[in-house]
Amino acid sequence: MNPMKILIANWKMNPSSGKEAKALFEAESGLGRLKNIEVIICPPACFLSLLGGSKSVKLGGQDLFWENPPAGGGAYTGEVSGKMLKDLGCEYVIVGHSERRNHAGETDEIINAKLKTALKSGLTPILCIGERDGEEMSDVVASQIKKGLADIGKNQLEEVIIAYEPVWAISTSGAGKECSPDNALSAAVFIRKILTEIYGNFLAQKAVVIYGGSVDAGNGPSYIKQSQMAGLLVGGASLEAEEFVKIGEAINNL
Ligand code: PGA
Repeated sequence: MNPMKILIANWKMNPSSGKEAKALFEAESGLGRLKNIEVIICPPACFLSLLGGSKSVKLGGQDLFWENPPAGGGAYTGEVSGKMLKDLGCEYVIVGHSERRNHAGETDEIINAKLKTALKSGLTPILCIGERDGEEMSDVVASQIKKGLADIGKNQLEEVIIAYEPVWAISTSGAGKECSPDNALSAAVFIRKILTEIYGNFLAQKAVVIYGGSVDAGNGPSYIKQSQMAGLLVGGASLEAEEFVKIGEAINNL
């Protein structure tokens, strides 16, 4: 497992101007001084070129197109390629976020193609998995891992981050539920069980598994201390620089 704890900001479709994006990025980049965390900020793609240049925190995309056309571009209106993200300074990219599964109709097959394209583009994919309210965690997570990581070899697993995000715990999901550290621990253990079936115990134990869903400075550390999570994926609280910095400081000191 990566000894550095991972802290990812998923700004989603926020903020609404480049000026605000720059201010938020600057405030959150201060976390780059901390030695025990790796901070990755995922802004909307349109702000990436405004935010490059900071060496202290990393940049990530929120999505990418499912292939890199050989010519470097192609007739895919509205899409952004892995190559373009890389060129804009990204080192990471989120794939399969539940909002894209739900609103953009992304299937596990599309997500698997995106994950492979991310790796081919030199980006570390952050594969989001998690059940919706009322669904069985084990059924959904097993299927999303197997399909999302289809054809990903043993030597590539360590280049992937797996983010367990129970959809019912995401702050904007409307379910209004919180995922307890015990619940997140059960998911982490189950994820490693499935990874063991595919990749063997050694690689499964080394895999980077993080938690996301209504994380704030109050509950964030508990997912790392009690749930065997290697880091956090933060949505809503990453739009408030002060709260996000508090989360980073809290987990840096664990
Ligand atoms: P949240 O979002 O922290 O606002 O719950 C997490 C996510 O959707 O990645």
